[in-house]
Amino acid sequence: MRFLSRSFIGWLLMLMAIGAAAPGWAQDGAAVFKLYCASCHAGAGNDRAPTRDVLGQLSPERILLALEKGAMQAQAAERSRAQRRAVAVYLAGKPFGADPLKPFPDSAFCANTGVKSVASLQAPAWNGWGVDKANTRFQPAAGAGIGAADVPALKLKWAFGLPGASSGGTQPVVAGGRLYFGNAEGDLFALDAKTGCILWRTEVEAGVRSAPVLGPRAGGGVTAYLGDQAANVYAIDAADGKILWKVKVDDYAQAAVTATPQLHGGVVYVPVSSREESKVGDPLYPCCAFRGSVVALDAATGQQAWKSYAIAQQAAPSGKNSAGTVIVGPSGAAIWNTPSIDEQRGLLYVGTGNNFSPPATATSDSVVAFSLKSGAMTVLRQFGPDDIWNASCRRPDREQAVCPVAESPDADFAASPVMVTTKTGQPLLVAGNKSGSVWALDPAAGGKTVWDQQVGQGGTGGGVLWGMAVGEDRVYVPNGFFDAKRPDAAGGLTALDLNTGRVLWSAPNPPCGARKPCKPSHAAAVSAMPGVVFSGTMDGQLYAYDAATGKIIWAYDSVQDYTTVNGVSAKGGSMSNAGPTLAGGMVYVQSGYAHHGAVIPGNVLLAFGVP
Ligand code: HEC
Repeated sequence: MRFLSRSFIGWLLMLMAIGAAAPGWAQDGAAVFKLYCASCHAGAGNDRAPTRDVLGQLSPERILLALEKGAMQAQAAERSRAQRRAVAVYLAGKPFGADPLKPFPDSAFCANTGVKSVASLQAPAWNGWGVDKANTRFQPAAGAGIGAADVPALKLKWAFGLPGASSGGTQPVVAGGRLYFGNAEGDLFALDAKTGCILWRTEVEAGVRSAPVLGPRAGGGVTAYLGDQAANVYAIDAADGKILWKVKVDDYAQAAVTATPQLHGGVVYVPVSSREESKVGDPLYPCCAFRGSVVALDAATGQQAWKSYAIAQQAAPSGKNSAGTVIVGPSGAAIWNTPSIDEQRGLLYVGTGNNFSPPATATSDSVVAFSLKSGAMTVLRQFGPDDIWNASCRRPDREQAVCPVAESPDADFAASPVMVTTKTGQPLLVAGNKSGSVWALDPAAGGKTVWDQQVGQGGTGGGVLWGMAVGEDRVYVPNGFFDAKRPDAAGGLTALDLNTGRVLWSAPNPPCGARKPCKPSHAAAVSAMPGVVFSGTMDGQLYAYDAATGKIIWAYDSVQDYTTVNGVSAKGGSMSNAGPTLAGGMVYVQSGYAHHGAVIPGNVLLAFGVP
């Protein structure tokens, strides 16, 4: 035993307490600090923040408390548990004293896994981000397991709490009677989809925002593929949570996989994004060199088949700011959405985001196609040129060199384009972005615009943020718009005719009344089934609408404290990013969100069903 240092024993105790299937990830606390904390705490950028020396006088428990429950919750929300603990130990210069919180009681784990010890792809299923490879987010009747007439009777069946989290989980995925989802803590869970007991839990290296996408494994079994916030992609055995392979798809320090990968023909297609645009508050930061990309990996081995950047040229110096920091570019065109597959044309489609720094490129804020085989990219259409946006643009001390135009729209395509065919056989690629516009492009005619429609006011957090749904020849468009001076005018949900783009109905929000905070914007992705569309709001309301009329047929206020099946105290809050998962007579939704203008943190996954 004398060979083992005290910190190593502390580390072992911590792993035992966490009880994860994976060995935990050896995180470099110094690297986490440099990347995510130093801009404010190194003593240069932000004079309100305690210096590195002051932080060094705190205990690791005290620092962890600030990150998980205190003043630094927002700053640490996208760091995994392992990263938060590593940075706490690094700053304090000593290991944790006692066992850190044991996250789950033994009773949270399934007692008898029975047939559920076998992972299968059996329906009812909601696989990946968008239920199908076209990203329609429309669950047909057989998969939904309930009809429109059942929806008003939906009741909460159980709730599952995420310890230490300020945001709920990712888009839940259902197959073979299991529910799979990840969270910002770096956990991936497999639960019994009926009862919510834990079948297994695996810890990955960084936080997870990507949903898993499941596929059959050669030789038998099911593999779950997902990405993390450090741009790692994992293949995980869906039976027991063991990591089969792990590949880093982008070495850039700020690269991340936020969207869900797509799986097609034995290849995992991974969209790569980055929050580098948010780092630019620091005048010493040499903004920006990240380029969005799609990476194709062999599903069996993780070997890279191709990697194709949304910006062809690498960044080079383009000027200096007043602090003398070199500004580099072009950059950006991050890919925040899950690819949609067009098997007939051998293509996948994604939308790209804004440029992060000058010069502007012809591939930002665009709908683009990548060849499934070679990765060659073509632009179907660019929707707004010269959209150079970063976190310095809205500041009074904005500098021309890094943000040339203060009013840059920040009109990312964060939502997946949806690839569909109308009843008359017309193929359409339906795409919407943060400007609040929706377009239908003809992929058979080089992306020619068939129709376009403005559904409401857009903006940095507004317009179409995370996802539309398409079904029954309708396009359901959520609007994330919010103006603090007119909260009641926020958001809303609109249905368009898929063939013409004509507005069929537009449903405003019910008044907030005494509800506080009042932020009824619809930033989260929506989900639909025959006759019903579900949409959640930034202030935690979940609505089900009659798909034909827009009338609200069921509503649930998720901002509550929950007694959870896994013994973790949990509360609901803002809904953003992922939307409801409809499968097997159940509706699963995450509640609680702490970034992108969200107003109520929370840490719960809710499961509704009919009695
Ligand atoms: C955008 C700037 C910013 C970033 C990034 C940031 N912090 Fe802070 N931090 C602050 C400010 C400002 C305060 C003082 C907050 C207050 O007093 O309310 C603070 C306070 C703290 C405290 C003391 C909290 C307390 O309760 O006394 C800790 C510990 C801390 N930060 C750790 C971190 C760590 C670790 C990171 C990186 C994961 C980080 N911070 C990232 C600005 C930042």
